[in-house]
Amino acid sequence: MKSGSMRILIGVIMATLACLLGVAFARGQAAQTAPAGQAQRPQMAEEVFTNVQVLKGIPVDEFMDTMGMFAASLSLNCIDCHVAESVDKWERFADETPLKRTARTMVQMVTAINKQNFKGVRSVTCYTCHRGDLRPKVVPSLVVQYSAPVEDPNEVDIPPNAKGPSPDEVFNKYVQALGGAQRLASLTSFSAKGAFIGFETEQTKVAMDLLAKAPAQRTMIVHTRLGDSTRVYDGRAAWVAAPDKPLPLMTLTGGNLEGAKIDAIVSFPAQIKQAFAQWRVGATAIDDKEVVVLQGTNPRQPPVNFYFDGSGLLIRVVRLVDTAVGRVPTQIDYSDYREVAGVKMPFHWTTTWTDGQATVDLTEVQPNVTIDAARFARPAPAPRPN
Ligand code: HEC
Ligand code: HEC
Repeated sequence: MKSGSMRILIGVIMATLACLLGVAFARGQAAQTAPAGQAQRPQMAEEVFTNVQVLKGIPVDEFMDTMGMFAASLSLNCIDCHVAESVDKWERFADETPLKRTARTMVQMVTAINKQNFKGVRSVTCYTCHRGDLRPKVVPSLVVQYSAPVEDPNEVDIPPNAKGPSPDEVFNKYVQALGGAQRLASLTSFSAKGAFIGFETEQTKVAMDLLAKAPAQRTMIVHTRLGDSTRVYDGRAAWVAAPDKPLPLMTLTGGNLEGAKIDAIVSFPAQIKQAFAQWRVGATAIDDKEVVVLQGTNPRQPPVNFYFDGSGLLIRVVRLVDTAVGRVPTQIDYSDYREVAGVKMPFHWTTTWTDGQATVDLTEVQPNVTIDAARFARPAPAPRPN
């Protein structure tokens, strides 16, 4: 593949994953029949997959993120490193290929570099050298050296004492823009219907339901052609039960769990401020429009960036997941704010991450409804497609 051809990459990855939808996953079936209690403990990659040699001891969700890191860093799609048959059979991802072998030695090389030079901190990752190319560049580019730098708002650097509004001022403006603290406090739950487009739906529009309850419970159910794909955050733990995942019920861990929590608190935004121990304020631009950035940090977690437009509304969240091979980003862009019970709510959002993109459009929202507690409990494993 041509280097840097991100559009092609995403397209092909989506095609690959779309094909995976038709796949039954035998080991997943086994997990489904495992005794109850056990499903609580996240399954490790080597327990689920058959040919894991270096990325051992990490949960399945993080393992899949490392694959996203490889794909994003080298602009490859899954079946550049894996045999073409993998798109029809999860098992075939275990087959060896030359690129897969090289990737393994690269993981070991990167681990050694970081250990020997950076006290084990993941300062060097696949992206450090590859930057979207299969073969890292050797000769510096005069074009790059002599062009104006392009700022990526997701990489905004926020010094500790940057000038600008205080975090409180940004939050207050946000709360005002949403309808004020009182109205926000009176919205304690909602159920919504809408449309979802993503690669798990092969880029076709399907129906979805969203349920949310303050302070931080959230369930999203996407009705895909192969069955329901359910994501739940119960206030503490998070799961994905989907027909296109390597496991019929995948427990989210680490940064994915934090991400599920952030998705939930963004539904009841008065929580956001308390959710982080430390805040910094910065500024950047998105699509040539000035935005204010609030960066929230908690101990031992990567920072999360919240971007607010001129009217004070939240338009983007960028969060990171730490993996064994470095951090991978997820970006969520919110728009089409409409009033529900006097509170402005985004009706449209797009989630972009290293192996895909998904868009949600809400069509109706019922505020302050009673939602059965079971809707926020650990979901049943997704039935495997035939
Ligand atoms: C740069 C090459 C590369 C890319 C791109 C890549 N993988 Fe992998 N994949 C590997 C390597 C290397 C392993 C084995 C890891 C190990 O031995 O610890 C692996 C293992 C796997 C496994 C476990 C197979 C088994 O049963 O042992 C799955 C599943 C998998 N990859 C899925 C994917 C998916 C899905 C994508 C696309 C999002 C992807 N991979 C992209 C290199 C790659
Ligand atoms: C310190 C720099 C560096 C880092 C970090 C690095 N690579 Fe590489 N990688 C290289 C170089 C140099 C080559 C050889 C390119 C060539 O043959 O011209 C290479 C080659 C590869 C190839 C084979 C390309 C081919 O055409 O055969 C793969 C696959 C690969 N790297 C994957 C990875 C993965 C996955 C990571 C992260 C775990 C990674 N690399 C991290 C420098 C790096």
